[in-house]
Amino acid sequence: MITKLVRIDELHMDESAIEEAGRVLAGGGLVAFPTETVYGLGGNGLDEDAAARIYAAKGRPSDNPLILHITSMEELVPLVAEISETALVLAEAFWPGPLTMIFKKAELVPYETTGGLDTVAVRMPSHPVARAVIRAAKVPVAAPSANTSGRPSPTKALHVLEDLDGRVDMVVDGGEVGIGLESTIIDISEGRPTILRPGYITEEMLFPLIGKAEVDAAVRGIPEEDARPKAPGMKYRHYAPKAEMTVFLGSPTEVCGAIEGALAQAAAEGRRAGVLCTEETERFYDAPVKKCAGRRNEPESVARSLYEALRAFDREQVDCIFSESFEDSPLGGAIMNRLLKAAGYRTVGCGEFTSVR
Ligand code: TXA
Ligand code: MG
Repeated sequence: MITKLVRIDELHMDESAIEEAGRVLAGGGLVAFPTETVYGLGGNGLDEDAAARIYAAKGRPSDNPLILHITSMEELVPLVAEISETALVLAEAFWPGPLTMIFKKAELVPYETTGGLDTVAVRMPSHPVARAVIRAAKVPVAAPSANTSGRPSPTKALHVLEDLDGRVDMVVDGGEVGIGLESTIIDISEGRPTILRPGYITEEMLFPLIGKAEVDAAVRGIPEEDARPKAPGMKYRHYAPKAEMTVFLGSPTEVCGAIEGALAQAAAEGRRAGVLCTEETERFYDAPVKKCAGRRNEPESVARSLYEALRAFDREQVDCIFSESFEDSPLGGAIMNRLLKAAGYRTVGCGEFTSVR
């Protein structure tokens, strides 16, 4: 298959390109497009064959459900069994935006889309290009992140092409995304609202609206062999660069010192090492490869550049990656969740700091 690449500028939207993307989706094809979080790989969410194509293109296990993307509350109604007060409050506050809610599904939604579950994940994105594409498709658009299963999510069209060129019908290039980490997922289908995946919408932001949300155990650490995380996607190793990565936990000063030591050891052993650092700390390291994930005093920039940095290590063919940690900010939970998964939970505690909280 030849993948068609079209560029759509959100300020001067090319209507004919949007309509073409809509036609491809409505006809059962696959279109990757930007959202405010990461690029999504879209297909008709009500068409089980389209769902099968999404799983095949990503190489994703088909028990890992997809998120349906909509543009208005009206579109939510036929997809879910009920819309609770909590759903209304959260939609009012955070939609359109980077929040995914899990509902009990309506019959209309095929089990192929929900990975066999009786619940369905729905999100209303805010990115103007995403909204235009979904509107043109005139169907709810199932869209996982547009990466090969297990690789870091794409934050630019180039990342999508790295993974999916020749495997999807169309890629809409809308430039670099704004947030850079996947949406916060909250399960409101039963009992207390439970965060299944941390993201830009934090526990602190949810608290004034719905009280204290539970946090699924899989968010914090290695899912146990037989424990079933509520978001099936959380059980797979994810976001991972090819080289073995270790996250150094502790204060920035302790971490810098420990990484310098690890670099010296890697050099002595003839291993090509990369450091995942920040603009503030880059100059401290003497390393074959250094990649900055933004600026430490601006956590948004870390979120935005994390996946690009992880992909860059693959291009540089490093043997091992030593990463700083980013716990001390409201976005720290979401950033550390992705970083630890990418590292397969390999950590080194520096100074007094010996474990992840
Ligand atoms: O920001 C995002 O959410 C991006 C953009 C494209 O919107 N999408 C995204 O999709 O990250 P994906 O498929 O890569 O991640 C969806 C996660 C998976 O971990 C999946 O297991 C979980 O959502 N999920 C989907 N439906 C679910 C359900 N019914 N119950 C529990 N977890 C669900
Ligand atoms: Mg994903």
